[in-house]
Amino acid sequence: MNESQRRAYLALGIGPLWRARRDEGAAVADAAVTEAVVTDAAVADTAADPVVTDVAAMDWPALRAAVAECRACDLCRTRTRTVFGVGDERASWLVIGEAPGAEEDRRGEPFVGSAGRLLDQMLAALGLSRGHDVFIANVLKCRPPGNRDPSPDERAHCEPFLRRQIELLAPRVILVAGRTAAQSLLGTEASIASLRGRVHAYRLGERSIPVVVTYHPAYLLRTAADKARAWVDLCLARRVHDQGDGSSRPPAPTAPRAGA
Ligand code: URA
Repeated sequence: MNESQRRAYLALGIGPLWRARRDEGAAVADAAVTEAVVTDAAVADTAADPVVTDVAAMDWPALRAAVAECRACDLCRTRTRTVFGVGDERASWLVIGEAPGAEEDRRGEPFVGSAGRLLDQMLAALGLSRGHDVFIANVLKCRPPGNRDPSPDERAHCEPFLRRQIELLAPRVILVAGRTAAQSLLGTEASIASLRGRVHAYRLGERSIPVVVTYHPAYLLRTAADKARAWVDLCLARRVHDQGDGSSRPPAPTAPRAGA
């Protein structure tokens, strides 16, 4: 274990026993997540919308420009900057959060406040770092004033941008942080407790990308007791990532957990 990983484990409150060697990580995930099940994300029917059609054909530079210029909803009036996302455009990991906060709005980069520092520690615990094989994005590209929850309308306007980011990236796994982001991406009202511990599928035509849900780092800052559960989620994501065959197909479905 290197020094940065040791610090990351301490920040996660998981101590030196939770080493991230791959087999051990899988064993931890196996112990706490007895079965994984693949469920389908509901996908909004946006194919007929001409704006959506445009976005669906964009490359990275065009998509960045479109987000920077977007005036599709009222958040454009209150934002300082749009927050497109950050990282390696060829990354095999994608982390998705909810929406920019105050600091992100000022700097134009996702997860740069205190929650972002914990996210960086979570990534470090997996041996990852911002900008290297990870792309970080949000469901919304603009800050909702007062950090309120994104409205359904705002989510719908931003959805084609996130969808195109996922298509261009084609990651091996998507790690979704927090209830709001998970519900938006998976098109469900289910609780985070019922969404964790399973592998979901984000459909892209014929392809699908495995999705693992975990707690939002801002929640973990307030609820340290759930950091160990978050670590189990990270281990599951690592296992799904490492099992991937590069074709963006999720692992074979298994039976749901009893009571899940
Ligand atoms: N919370 C999020 O969900 N995203 C950010 O970028 C910052 C905080």
